[in-house]
Amino acid sequence: MSAVVAEAAATPTVTPTALPPGPRTPRLWQTIRFALWPYATAGMAAQRWGERYTVWSIGERGKMVIFTDPEAIKDIFTANGDDLRSGEANAPILGPILGWHSILLLDGERHHRERRLMAPPFHGERMHVYGRLMREIADRVIDAWPVGRPFPIHREMQAITLDVILRAVFGVDEGAALTRVREQVERFAAQANGPSAPFIALKPFQIDLGRWTPWGRFVRNRDAIRTILVDEIARRRAEGTAGRTDILSLLVEARDEHGAPMSDEELLDEMFTLLMAGQETTATSLAWVFYHLLRHPDALAKLRAELARVVGGGPVEAKHLPQLEYLDAVTKESARLTPVATNVMRRLHAPARIGGLDLPAGISVSASIYGTHHRPDLWPDPERFQPERFLGARPSPNTFFPFGGGVRRCLGAAFATYELKIVLAEVLSRVELRIAPGYRMRPVLRAITVAPSRGVPVVMERRIG
Ligand code: HEM
Repeated sequence: MSAVVAEAAATPTVTPTALPPGPRTPRLWQTIRFALWPYATAGMAAQRWGERYTVWSIGERGKMVIFTDPEAIKDIFTANGDDLRSGEANAPILGPILGWHSILLLDGERHHRERRLMAPPFHGERMHVYGRLMREIADRVIDAWPVGRPFPIHREMQAITLDVILRAVFGVDEGAALTRVREQVERFAAQANGPSAPFIALKPFQIDLGRWTPWGRFVRNRDAIRTILVDEIARRRAEGTAGRTDILSLLVEARDEHGAPMSDEELLDEMFTLLMAGQETTATSLAWVFYHLLRHPDALAKLRAELARVVGGGPVEAKHLPQLEYLDAVTKESARLTPVATNVMRRLHAPARIGGLDLPAGISVSASIYGTHHRPDLWPDPERFQPERFLGARPSPNTFFPFGGGVRRCLGAAFATYELKIVLAEVLSRVELRIAPGYRMRPVLRAITVAPSRGVPVVMERRIG
């Protein structure tokens, strides 16, 4: 017997397990339901079908098994990135939006190379470089808030996170260029997060019939931003990066193990990806934290007391953050209760055993962030906002994963966490806010996030500092 035949004979053939049951409603209805009630759909499915169930996969033909049990989540996050492919799962929706070199669309060795090139600028220890910039940007936005008149806090957080990305990540300096790109991105974001968002994200609607169709308008807005980014990359290459700390400059200088730099196309798609992945997610997370804090005066008072004790009257700095435990707990509890991304997906390139199920190649699996974060056995009284549950606790990456996990865990997690804390501390040390009267929150699905409806209207009662 040859070695190959002997090996084949020794390898047991695994019969795929039957897929777990799930809703049998038509694919279109499942998509519409999720688009209209993203949290409720996930919550009700877990109640009805348990910790694993099968749905139609959004954005492509085929089935997806959704998991909320830590054992299966662990299998998903520790699997080889070549067997469980995130890029392949993301491609149908994100490919036409982000460009095909985007890290979110790559798998296997290409993803590994891109990740190695992009990770160093996002390392946690580097974040203090951006603290002062984040504070200055927050201050400029806070200075313009009116006293006594309602305004949506989400819109204000978008203004902050956009300028943070443009300046800290792209390195666009104050001036005409910043104004130009800011306006263009705001126009783009307004469309991507407006009522036509589903027509952008879903493949059947991605038809360009000119600027009067949602996709046509989207393509034109997207290309206008890409043109600005092309100019910015060319300028950085021409002028050099000496003395610069922005992430684009670091990526221009990055080299892989063969000494090769990132190409212009790669840089362009990655910068566009960072803009898409980093701005709205962080702004929406901030909007959620304000929503929860303003509805829980006890938690707000505890946070204010901690800030006064640790930071005093001055600006919050990197050195304060390790001592701000309640601030950390508040941001985590908000991400547990109302995660801006409801789930992460992988596509099986090879048969795999997930949570004891033998699944065939071609199927998609999802680690449900919302579903896992709301399991009463893992999180007692799960619907309650209770930051104390994170005090002195180190939750497992298989039970708490607002940034996804494994080799695909969010590249900007440290950046976003740092920004959340700096901005929250700055706002709370400078103003007193309350939720506008009559506001009733509904979670709404926007382009890539679930956000509180109407941007959470708030009223600024007074300035403190
Ligand atoms: C609170 C804000 C944010 C949240 C909740 C968030 C969440 C996520 C999630 C759930 C994923 C998918 C992980 C997976 O598949 O396992 C992801 C991926 C990613 N995020 Fe974030 N993100 C945030 C902010 C940012 C920021 C600020 C940046 C960069 C400026 C960023 C860049 C990325 C990138 C590049 C990926 C793809 C990583 C890969 O495929 O290797 N994100 N993020």
